Amino acid sequence: MIPAWAQAAYLVAAICFILALKGLSSPRTARGGNLLGVAGALLAVVVTFLVADVANLGWIIAAVVVGAVPGVVIARRVVMTAMPQLVALFNGVGGAAAALVGLLEVAGTNVRGDLAAIAFTILVGAVSFSGSAVTFAKLQEIITTRPVLFPGGQYAAAVVLTAGVVLAGAVVFSGSSALAATLAGVGLVFGVLLVLPVGGADVPVVISLLNAFTGLAVAAGGYVLDNTLLLVAGTLVGASGTILTRLMAQAMGRSVPAILFGAFRAGSTAGAAGAAGTRPVRSAGPEDVAILLGYAHKVVIVPGYGLAVAQAQHTVHELAEVLQERGVAVSYAIHPVAGRMPGHMNVLLAEANVPYEQLHEMEVANPELRAADVALVVGANDVVNPAARTSPGSPIYGMPILDVDQAKAVVFLKRSMRPGFAGIENELLHDPRTTLLFGDAKESLMKLIAAVKNL
Ligand code: TAP
Repeated sequence: MIPAWAQAAYLVAAICFILALKGLSSPRTARGGNLLGVAGALLAVVVTFLVADVANLGWIIAAVVVGAVPGVVIARRVVMTAMPQLVALFNGVGGAAAALVGLLEVAGTNVRGDLAAIAFTILVGAVSFSGSAVTFAKLQEIITTRPVLFPGGQYAAAVVLTAGVVLAGAVVFSGSSALAATLAGVGLVFGVLLVLPVGGADVPVVISLLNAFTGLAVAAGGYVLDNTLLLVAGTLVGASGTILTRLMAQAMGRSVPAILFGAFRAGSTAGAAGAAGTRPVRSAGPEDVAILLGYAHKVVIVPGYGLAVAQAQHTVHELAEVLQERGVAVSYAIHPVAGRMPGHMNVLLAEANVPYEQLHEMEVANPELRAADVALVVGANDVVNPAARTSPGSPIYGMPILDVDQAKAVVFLKRSMRPGFAGIENELLHDPRTTLLFGDAKESLMKLIAAVKNL
């Protein structure tokens, strides 16, 4: 029985988690929210050590060190663009931990309700672990980011899932540890089959979905262990992961089932191959682009993944300031899935102290783009690709985009004619109103700053 003071401390930790989520919903309060979440987790761990009848303390501390040391090192070293992989990795470990708790609890349990929660924890935790491992491998490009399809793949997935559900039932009625271990194995196979066919731009959405799975597995683990805090924390992760998954899918104009099963119907996002053909484009040097920008009334900057790769957030801010000094009105158009993670552009630009009021979401930015003299696209591609509006056959068809093509002139800063994450060509690069300034975004921006100053 957990004493009342510990229950009260758990309640405080749960409130910390809820306030942390609230804080994380805005860039202004995200840092505080994060710290509050850490404080809640720390409180929960300390209280658990104090109230639990802890055996094997040495082993537990060793396990904490084995987990914490690489965790801290990796988290400190990771570059922003690799954050989704890191989330996938950590999420997978969480799923595995939940599944292991389930496996350990089977032997001592004979209550059907508890066994049902255990079977759920094992199956969902295992799916989350192996699914996250595959998403990690895809994002890290250890395996191809394209959908991996094989004949009868969807039937294999359906058979394995059915086997998992039947085995889960068998675990509930038998309480057998051997069946529980088999259930874990089936969950691992299903996780792989679930994620392999998902390709290209959809992979990060799947991470969010698997994150929700882990949350649910942990919540069921909380029920099994009779730990209210684990139940609350798991439910929060499950709910927030589900909401985030829906938001990301909406921002891409796709449904979650279409993301998961679209590849089976040949609707994968990692569609057409490689670089665009040999059709002409208009490229220019920094001096010419500086004239376009320096004599404009209104410039809308559209940042994308390439801005993050080039780490050009400070430089783009500097260019904006130089333009503003000349009387040019400058704002930033932020697409909800620009970059590789939710809020990616907001985080980068906040780091460079770009005023929040200059960052405009799609609803505000699109009318602005129609009135803009120049849309300056810095390392973005898919989120400005008009194929989303005009080509029903395109994998990104239906995704709401920034209407860059409505501006009087468009400038792309990119290194080559390579496509973006979705792997599809962008017709806008060939539009007569479009100018390309080839090169690393940071270097191009530095050249532009110098050229605008010389006007
Ligand atoms: P992308 O479509 O991936 O395009 C990035 C562009 O940046 C490419 O054109 C690339 O061209 C250029 N680039 C890369 N490195 C550069 C550098 N150092 N300097 C200059 N340019 C560079 O990016 P986006 O428009 O931001 O779209 C994001 C994509 O990720 C979408 O497909 C979205 O659905 C997907 N996605 C995002 C999220 C979230 S939550 N953000 C989640 C899931 C999926 P070059 O190689 O020619 O330079």
